[in-house]
Amino acid sequence: MSSEKPSPAADLLEHEYDGIKEYDNPMPRWWVGAFWASFVFSIGYVGYYLAGHGQSVEESFREDERIAREERARSSLEEAPSEAVLSKLMADDAMMQDAKLLFGERCAVCHGAEGQGLIGPNLTDNSWIHGKGQLMDIFGVVSDGVTTKGMPAWELTLKPIEIRKLVAFVGTLRGKALPGKAPEGQPVAAVP
Ligand code: HEC
Repeated sequence: MSSEKPSPAADLLEHEYDGIKEYDNPMPRWWVGAFWASFVFSIGYVGYYLAGHGQSVEESFREDERIAREERARSSLEEAPSEAVLSKLMADDAMMQDAKLLFGERCAVCHGAEGQGLIGPNLTDNSWIHGKGQLMDIFGVVSDGVTTKGMPAWELTLKPIEIRKLVAFVGTLRGKALPGKAPEGQPVAAVP
């Protein structure tokens, strides 16, 4: 709906369809305004992304995933540690990837990048110095450490959720039997 008056007959366009003629009216001003506004906006918008601001679809997806993972981690802390709670973390692939990085930073110096053992024992065999390789046994030794033998008490330095993730990660190493340090402690039945 345009408020503009029809132009004089001189502005009639040449073509004619079945007797219908058309005036050469200018585009409504609101339309032209909206066109230029969206044009200028699109340049700014593209420039903003090209300059490296803003999140790509992939980045925002990863961010959402990270938040969801932290949410799961927080809710898992509401329950006291147990075989069931810890084995649930073992099944969480994304969380185990975080844990592998953490293992690389904190544990690999003594236990090797793959847990195959260096100064500290091989964590991938089915022999254990402390306990029988149950998740709660691992939880105990990781939390309290064996300070007289050089294994730090990690509850002093790591957050509770980090300890749980690492314990679950060590759980995933059990029985991989990677070549490395010879088994120490007592052999136990393989954990399913
Ligand atoms: C400074 C070296 C060192 C670091 C770092 C270290 N450990 Fe240990 N860890 C040891 C030693 C040494 C032992 C063996 C203790 C013993 O002989 O009683 C051990 C034992 C263990 C055991 C028990 C193994 C068994 O056979 O009973 C587990 C599980 C373990 N460490 C996990 C971890 C995790 C997880 C981390 C990282 C958060 C870690 N360790 C970091 C030195 C280390």
